[in-house]
Amino acid sequence: MEAKLSVLFTVAIMLVLAANGDESVQPLVKKVKGKKLCDKGWECKGWSVYCCNQTISDYFDAYQFENLFAKRNSPVAHAVGFWDYHSFITAAAQYQPLGFGTTGAKHSGMKEVAAFLGHVGSKTTCGYGVATGGPLAWGLCYNKEMSPSQMYCDDYYKLTYPCAPGASYHGRGALPLYWNYNYGETGQALKVDLLNHPEYIEQNATLAFQAAIWRWMTPVKKRQPSAHDVFVGNWKPTKNDTLSKRIPGFGATMNVLYGDQVCGKDDSDSMNNIVSHYLYYLDLMGVGREEAGPHEVLSCSEQKAFNPTSSSASSS
Ligand SMILES: *[C@@H]1O[C@H](CO)[C@@H](O)[C@H](O)[C@H]1NC(C)=O
Ligand SMILES: *[C@@H]1O[C@H](CO)[C@@H](O)[C@H](O)[C@H]1NC(C)=O
Ligand SMILES: *[C@@H]1O[C@H](CO)[C@@H](O)[C@H](O)[C@H]1NC(C)=O
Repeated sequence: MEAKLSVLFTVAIMLVLAANGDESVQPLVKKVKGKKLCDKGWECKGWSVYCCNQTISDYFDAYQFENLFAKRNSPVAHAVGFWDYHSFITAAAQYQPLGFGTTGAKHSGMKEVAAFLGHVGSKTTCGYGVATGGPLAWGLCYNKEMSPSQMYCDDYYKLTYPCAPGASYHGRGALPLYWNYNYGETGQALKVDLLNHPEYIEQNATLAFQAAIWRWMTPVKKRQPSAHDVFVGNWKPTKNDTLSKRIPGFGATMNVLYGDQVCGKDDSDSMNNIVSHYLYYLDLMGVGREEAGPHEVLSCSEQKAFNPTSSSASSS
């Protein structure tokens, strides 16, 4: 009995040590042309300036993920058991050396994670009206569109992104993908054959988060900023941007991702829904919504779209 207890005790100590060890991973450091570059193991690999900073798992724990997405595994949710913290961190690992969640001090990283997840929460929620826990507690309720009314196959792209026979390109993922060309482009970037296997996105949470973070980190068009760029301050508005009321901040992330579907329509419900998720997550993460900045930074209600929808390209 005593022997057993001491074994248990030793195992417990080893677990504690392992946990602490994880938290204070010392980066490998080298200097190249006066620049300090780091490599922090699997979560931030590849000699990047960003890896010298705190990584996402240093400041965002599994219990916080549980708080943000508290209702996702309740029996009435539509993707029970699918989404988890581990998948998010695994997917994020690929983009942290590029600055995702690692740009600037810890506080800035936390804000970016809240902003990204705010978009995710608002796109995957099933918390309408008087849902228990409040409407904002239901992010990651879905991982796919439930009753698609069409296959989302756009023949205009039949040479570049031909639809696979029988495949349906309805909404799937954390920032849901729609249409053959979006599955095609994302699949090319992630080196996964999503054009022939769009269903992979609803079968693999890591892949679903990867696709979403890739979208966040990648400009929609060449010479435009990504959502990440406009949020962390990598983007300097031109005169035309300023005239179009586009300024760096959370509002501009909605402009990059959704353009005039959400922006330039005063305080629309669709815009308010995304903003509310962001503010809610800032509070839950302990950053506080007062850190989100003034209304013109937070909203895009007066911004003209980076990519205005022309009447001919109205497919979203
Ligand atoms: C890393 O964090 C520090 C503050 O903690 C910040 O000044 C610096 O800009 C960050 N590095 C990068 C590459 O963002
Ligand atoms: C899920 O996707 C990730 C990232 O693309 C990949 O590494 C992993 O092997 C996939 N898992 C399965 C079970 O296919
Ligand atoms: C200025 O912005 C408008 C609307 O966003 C856009 O249509 C136009 O092409 C832009 N002009 C330049 C020179 O970038």
